[in-house]
Amino acid sequence: MNLIVMKDYNEISRQAALLVAASIALKPNLVLGLPTGRTPVQMYKELVLIHRNGFVDFKNVVTFNLDEYVNLPRKNPNSYYSYMQKNFFRHVNVRKENIHIPDGMAKNIKEECTRYEELIRAKGPIDLMILGIGHNGHIGFNEPSDEFVPETHIESLTEKTRIANSKYFGSLSKVPAKAITMGLGTIMHSKKIILLASGRDKAETIKRAISGNITPRFPASVLRLHRDCTFIIDKEAAEMIKK
Ligand code: F6R
Repeated sequence: MNLIVMKDYNEISRQAALLVAASIALKPNLVLGLPTGRTPVQMYKELVLIHRNGFVDFKNVVTFNLDEYVNLPRKNPNSYYSYMQKNFFRHVNVRKENIHIPDGMAKNIKEECTRYEELIRAKGPIDLMILGIGHNGHIGFNEPSDEFVPETHIESLTEKTRIANSKYFGSLSKVPAKAITMGLGTIMHSKKIILLASGRDKAETIKRAISGNITPRFPASVLRLHRDCTFIIDKEAAEMIKK
């Protein structure tokens, strides 16, 4: 596992955006795994800027989002579908048919998980996977658990995650209880993984991810077994790493 510590949130965002753009320059039909949440917002802004300046073309890029809430209509502003349109897809030229986000409103959610997993297998492997990290070590919505769940599946969100996300929904009761997420195996099959983290509130999380036990109780710890995984974090998030 590689670690890059940069000055602040803006720097890690720019670095991540440049990495994505460079990867697309090398492979125009890149298969890109994408996160939502607070952390990647600035990376998406930077990517939009790079695109507007003519330095990156998403025409042949294929994207797979990590996760989506179950039972939240796509048009709901808190759905990850809406988030992606607002922060990224509306501003760049990824083809509609190349955008993949799990359908949290599918009639049969189990079948939707299988469909999504098979689609990633058919179009993948994912060349470049961008991740954020939850305070409890979740990646995608793979919550702490007794075992690593390999494939795309339905996940019950922990209280901690629902509380963290309630700031977007206005109240805890409005946060969906379940989500569809890529599994840890799906994520680990990606050729290259970049994890972004920013802020003091992530310092303890990063310390555990880097130096704690590798355990499904702290899902991000599994990334240490990946051949090409880089954490790009700011100084605040790096504060508790032993020098
Ligand atoms: C969302 C996702 C989550 C977030 C994590 C951190 O698609 O994959 O694992 O990356 O919850 O969220 P923020 O960036 O809001 O702290």
